[in-house]
Amino acid sequence: PLESSKDVGLWSARHIVNRINAFKPTADRPFVLGLPTGSTPLNTYVRLIELHKAGEVSFKHVVTFNMDEYVGLEKHHPQSYHTFMHDNFFSHVDIQPENINLLNGNASDITAECKRYEDKIKSYGKIHLFMGGVGNDGHIAFNEPASSLSSRTRIKTLTEETRLANSRFFDNDINQVPKFALTIGVGTLMDAIEVMILVTGHKKAQALAAAVEGCVNHLWTVSALQLHPKAILVCDEPSTMEL
Ligand code: GLP
Repeated sequence: PLESSKDVGLWSARHIVNRINAFKPTADRPFVLGLPTGSTPLNTYVRLIELHKAGEVSFKHVVTFNMDEYVGLEKHHPQSYHTFMHDNFFSHVDIQPENINLLNGNASDITAECKRYEDKIKSYGKIHLFMGGVGNDGHIAFNEPASSLSSRTRIKTLTEETRLANSRFFDNDINQVPKFALTIGVGTLMDAIEVMILVTGHKKAQALAAAVEGCVNHLWTVSALQLHPKAILVCDEPSTMEL
């Protein structure tokens, strides 16, 4: 493991930059990057912005797909994942607005919205690199325990535990945390050519142990990555204490 969460941010940002630069993306052949929200990737976004400002990477020909979005929050709500991504990343780099893909948690037809998202991903072939975090209970994106490991983009009911964990962003009031979210499926994530999951802090230690040493099972959806041909877990020291 790396020593600290800052090191996880630096390592993961450099990995993304190396992959984009090695790919040499163009308008006709963009690099397709999957992105998460949450506190874990914040360091990565800070580093990516620094590397961009230092001239080491351009996002001009990078297409992004975010993992998930709350249902029922206005797009510009301070805690929507739309706002998070613009504030913490997109507005600081040279990404083209038309290359940004986010799920619309306010779509009137949820099923059509999820299909639109899957079809859009397919229109690019494959996601080249999908970065993610992990929930305390081992969920990836919002694939809560007992999600099908072959699931696709759909609506999920959030567990009490996830809503409680995320209430820190909603004045510590669980009642303000949405009850549902749109999320890519485990199957959608598994289709990416490469997956990189960031794991930091002792609260994630059980999830990391389940991911690495547990059986592949739908109660810890992150464990599905054991079947992925190219999955990396980027961890800090405190997250490895149950290994
Ligand atoms: C939410 C997100 C996940 C994220 C998880 C952990 O549930 N949907 O994508 O991995 O939170 O978040 P954090 O990094 O803040 O611990």
